[in-house]
Amino acid sequence: MKKSQICTPEEVHLIEKTRAYVEESLRGETTGHDIHHALRVEKMALHIAAKEGGNPLIVILAALLHDIADWKFHDGNIKLSSRLAEDWLSKWKLPKKSICHICDIIYRISYKGSGVATPMKTLEGKIVQDADRLDAIGAIGIARAFAYGGANSRPLYDPSESPVQHKNFTAYKNSKSHTINHFYEKLLLLKNRMWTDTAKNIARNRHCFMEKFLKEFYREWEGKK
Ligand code: ADP
Ligand code: NI
Repeated sequence: MKKSQICTPEEVHLIEKTRAYVEESLRGETTGHDIHHALRVEKMALHIAAKEGGNPLIVILAALLHDIADWKFHDGNIKLSSRLAEDWLSKWKLPKKSICHICDIIYRISYKGSGVATPMKTLEGKIVQDADRLDAIGAIGIARAFAYGGANSRPLYDPSESPVQHKNFTAYKNSKSHTINHFYEKLLLLKNRMWTDTAKNIARNRHCFMEKFLKEFYREWEGKK
């Protein structure tokens, strides 16, 4: 599905302006939440939408804007990204209903701990959440986890500290654990939290790659290889 085929010229213009706005807003971001993350999520979400359906304009705009002000870097404020997205989208000729739909996706998208459900109401929301979660696993997911850990002063690993299955968002948000624990607290759980069959298929390989990485990591940690 080519964007030029599915969107009107006005919509293509809005998408291009939004891309530039996101790039400017995320400039200097070094924790794996940069413009390239937004672009990968956009590309993956479109790939999923081509197979599963969904309104491409909603999918593209939600994907591009979903991390515009992530709660992880804004005092845990879960509403800021959707509020900024609403401000941005209100400048354009877009139906109020579409703006609310996009902002609702952005408000709900984030992982909040293994014991916290993150329901998505619409197909478009499920697609963008799947695409965002696919970017948190596999080779890129591993790279992003350690980039995030480094930027947030988290150790690579500490065998004395076991992973925790967080029952609520506050506990997840306040955790300061090492990055290897993050695999057990989030990354390895994502495979079973995908909505669409397309994402489930892609997640399987990426999950496998993370398991291989961890096996190798522990071997090297023990000086066995
Ligand atoms: P979400 O909103 O679901 O957290 P993001 O697009 O913000 O999704 O991606 C989160 C990224 O941040 C993940 O790739 C993950 O590796 C990284 N991350 C978040 N919390 C941690 C953590 N405690 N340790 C290491 N990486 C983390
Ligand atoms: Ni994201």
